[in-house]
Amino acid sequence: MPDLDAVATALGLTDQRAALAAGWSEHGAQLGEGVPSFLDAEAIATAARRAGLAAEPAAVLVEGLAALRTLPALGTLAAHARSLVLARRLAPDGGGWSWPLPSADLHPAAPLVYAWAVLGCVDDLFARNRERGIADGVTAAGLRDLGRWMEEYRRAKGHWGFDRMGWLWCQLAGSLHELGRLQYNLAHWEARVRVLRHRRDGRLAMLMEGRLDLRGDGQWQEVARTPRDPAGFTTVFSEGPEGWRGHAVDGDGNAARQPSAFAAADWEQVLGRGDPVLFLHIPAGGGLDADACRESLRQARDFFPRHYPRHAFKAVISISWMFDSQLARHLPAESNLVRFQRLFHLHPHPDLSGEQIRERVLGDAKADPARLVPATSLQRAVVGHLLAGGYWKQQGAVILPDEIV
Ligand SMILES: CC(C)(COP(=O)(O)OP(=O)(O)OC[C@H]1O[C@@H](n2cnc3c(N)ncnc32)[C@H](O)[C@@H]1OP(=O)(O)O)[C@@H](O)C(=O)NCCC(=O)NCCS
Repeated sequence: MPDLDAVATALGLTDQRAALAAGWSEHGAQLGEGVPSFLDAEAIATAARRAGLAAEPAAVLVEGLAALRTLPALGTLAAHARSLVLARRLAPDGGGWSWPLPSADLHPAAPLVYAWAVLGCVDDLFARNRERGIADGVTAAGLRDLGRWMEEYRRAKGHWGFDRMGWLWCQLAGSLHELGRLQYNLAHWEARVRVLRHRRDGRLAMLMEGRLDLRGDGQWQEVARTPRDPAGFTTVFSEGPEGWRGHAVDGDGNAARQPSAFAAADWEQVLGRGDPVLFLHIPAGGGLDADACRESLRQARDFFPRHYPRHAFKAVISISWMFDSQLARHLPAESNLVRFQRLFHLHPHPDLSGEQIRERVLGDAKADPARLVPATSLQRAVVGHLLAGGYWKQQGAVILPDEIV
């Protein structure tokens, strides 16, 4: 078994030895001393093709293998990461590993180490998905994220690398699939929101669940960057055989200041804590055409019961800057973002830091709006709203399976 300390030292990761140690003795025995066979140039080139990588990142990954001659510890780390993925594939919980990344200062190919590990899992993933009856095209679509995140890494750092192993874990564990425009992974409902449906007219009601500290506008008070709102209020919530009492959320996803009652004779619960759901993700690029999104939702509605019958999802949910209902006040009603929002029921989410919208729209989570020259109408809206003293937030979104048409 390769020596952990020697590998950590060779890769400049002694500070992160504890992270590296997780699972080392468990899987270390499988790590030979030579270059592992999945890191053969032809094997990597083939896996890169199967993962749909563009010519340039594929070539970078093949040529980078030369680094293994002078820095064999890179091969050991790639093999270790691959073993962790293959061994824990039945527990798709995000991986639980911090994936310490060696620096490009060590060798230009060093930050590619987990991209090799992903490619080393490609054959296994196709085989396992086939056992579930999942077509190769769907598996290949999910693997596009490797190329997307390599491009993103290069955009941010100016050289090639890949630092999203914790995310690709979901694809490799078989719990995340890209179906048309959108991605979905198996998850459970954790929001402090109870969802009810009217027994006769089908209306939904979302109630804030518990004693929560909210702002006057009905969003969470637990704000990272904005000051506490003195006009805030605390919610109440109760339930019993007669029904529920709580603060309902309006169409913009803001909780009402006053609680109201929902009789069990009229309302039934359709979503509560711990229920299985599909968590929707919106990959970058390609626009957000409403028809393509609806088509993707229809695919998800049919795909998951067929291939994951034990995960009887009760809703498709998401959390994102894209569901901040304030966007609808700044963008035209016919914009893709606003039309997309309208497909869902929105609810409050505790992250009011605005970091995600800064990262995804202004290019940097810490971007200073006063120093930016906005180029698109959305950037103008984001910057203008911040400069006017407003805040941006993430919001949650829910759509029930039978609302997907
Ligand atoms: C989701 C996404 C594809 C939507 O783009 P879209 O379909 O162009 O959206 P719209 O048509 O509603 O755009 C309206 C305006 O906002 C701009 N815009 C949209 N998304 C933008 C973004 N991420 N950054 C900067 N401007 C953006 C558009 O360019 C357009 O500007 P214009 O009027 O000057 O032409 C795009 O925002 C994106 O790729 N985001 C990154 C992925 C992401 O954030 N996912 C969510 C993770 S939680």
